[in-house]
Amino acid sequence: MTHVLLIGNGAREHAIAEAIRRSEQSPRLYSFMKTNNPGIAALSEEICLGRYDRPKEIVAFARKADVAFAVVGPEDPLSHGVVDALAEAGILAVGPTQSLARLETSKSFTRNLLEKYNIPGNPRFRNFQSSDGIEAFLDELDGIVIKPDGLTGGKGVLVQGDHFQTRSEARDLCRDILKSHPGVTVEEKLEGEEFSLQCLCDGRTVVATPPVQDHKRRFVDDRGPNTGGMGSYSDADHLLPFLDASAVAEALAITRQVADALCRETGIPYKGIMYGGFIITRSGVKLIEYNARFGDPEAMNILPLLKTDFIDVCRAIIEGTLDRMDIVFDNKATVCKYVVPTGYGLPQDHPEAASTSSRIEIGEVQGARLYYSSIDQRTDGLYMTSSRAIGVVGIADSLAEAEQIAERAVGAIRGPVDHRPDIGTNPLIQKRVQHMKTLKAESI
Ligand code: AMP
Ligand code: GLY
Repeated sequence: MTHVLLIGNGAREHAIAEAIRRSEQSPRLYSFMKTNNPGIAALSEEICLGRYDRPKEIVAFARKADVAFAVVGPEDPLSHGVVDALAEAGILAVGPTQSLARLETSKSFTRNLLEKYNIPGNPRFRNFQSSDGIEAFLDELDGIVIKPDGLTGGKGVLVQGDHFQTRSEARDLCRDILKSHPGVTVEEKLEGEEFSLQCLCDGRTVVATPPVQDHKRRFVDDRGPNTGGMGSYSDADHLLPFLDASAVAEALAITRQVADALCRETGIPYKGIMYGGFIITRSGVKLIEYNARFGDPEAMNILPLLKTDFIDVCRAIIEGTLDRMDIVFDNKATVCKYVVPTGYGLPQDHPEAASTSSRIEIGEVQGARLYYSSIDQRTDGLYMTSSRAIGVVGIADSLAEAEQIAERAVGAIRGPVDHRPDIGTNPLIQKRVQHMKTLKAESI
C-alpha cells in the first residue's frame, strides 16, 4: 500500500488530500500541517503539527510513516528547502528544490531567466539592488509595478493606481523596500484580463490543466483590498469566456520554454507544479509571475475534475514519465467561492477587522464540495480562525449551474461570514469579455 506525505494545511491541500484519497490504489495519507485542518485530518492516517521552516522535522515524520513520496502544497516549505531535505533522505517529492523554487520566491530570477533565454512574455522591467538608476527608469514607464525580491506572502506587489499614485511615491517605495530586501524589480504595468494556468512538470514534459480565473479583490465588483483570492471559476470547454485556445497555447508554450530554461540554468529538472499567472493584453499573453505550487483557490477548480489517478500523476512527475500519460480532466464548469469571516481582508483599525474568530454552522449542503481552510474543530463545533474559512465548489455542465450550486451551499453556512456573490455570475463574466473586446478594439 502506498503511503503519501502531504505538506500543507489550507483548502488547496484539502483538495490535494481528496485527490490522493480518491485513487484506486487506496493510498494512506500522512499529513504535516502548521495548524490542524480537520478536513485533511479526517482523510489522514496520521497527522503531525509543526513548522514549515524545519525541514528536519518533516523528514523525520516522512521516515516514520515510510512514505513513497511527498506532495508539497504551499510555497513556504519549498522556500525552506524541504524538497532538498527529503531528497537527501531518499524521498522524492512533487515540488521543486529550493533553488528551482526561486521561480516563485525571486521575481528578478524569473524575469532574468525569460530575458536570458529569449522567452516571450516579459513586460519592460529592470532589477535594482540600489536606488541608482531607478528614477530614470520610472520616467520611461507609463504605468508602474514594484515587486520586492523574496517571498512576500502574496502581498508585496505594489501597483500604481492601487497602492500608490505618483512617480515620486514609487521612488520612495523602492528606496524603502531596498532597506529590507536584497533587491526590487520595477516593471511596466500591464492592462488586460488575468488567468491562471497551472501546469504539471516532470522536468522535461509540461502538461497544462484547465485555465482558471481568480478574484483577488475582497468585495463585489472587484472593489476593496487584494486578498489571497476570494474565489475562481473554470469553464467546461477548458477555456475561459474571454480566452481562446490560442492564448492558452501561448501561455503553455512560455511555460514549456521556462521549464527547459530552468533545467539548463540549474542542471536540475523541475518536478512539480508551475503555476503561471498570465494576463492577456492587447499585445498578446504576458507573464505576471510564476508560483511553484498549485493556486489557492485554483487547485479546488481543477483537482476535482481530474479523471486520471492522481497517484499515477504524482509518480509520473517524480519519475519523469509525464510524456507517456494521458491526463484527462472532466469537461465540466467549476465555480469556487471562499466563505470568509466578515472581518477578513479589512484594515487592522476597521471596527470589524477583529471578528475573524467565530463559530459557524454548516447546514445541509447539496451537490457542492467543501474544502476547509482556516477552520478549527473544537468540542462544541467548528470555529473560523483568522483567514479564509471554507472553499465552496460547484461543479456542473455550465458556469451558471455551477455558480448556483456554490451559491446555495454558501447559504447553508451560518455565522458572521461573507463571500462574493458575483463570482461566476454572467454579469461579471460579461464584464471581463467586454473589457477584452474594448482593449482589442483600441489596439486596431
Ligand atoms: P500578488 O498575488 O499579491 O503577488 O499580486 C500579484 C498581482 O499584482 C497580480 O495578480 C496582478 O494583479 C498585479 N500585477 C503584478 N505584476 C503586474 C504587472 N506587471 N502589471 C499589472 N499588474 C500586475
Ligand atoms: N490564487 C493566488 C495564489 O494562489 O497565489
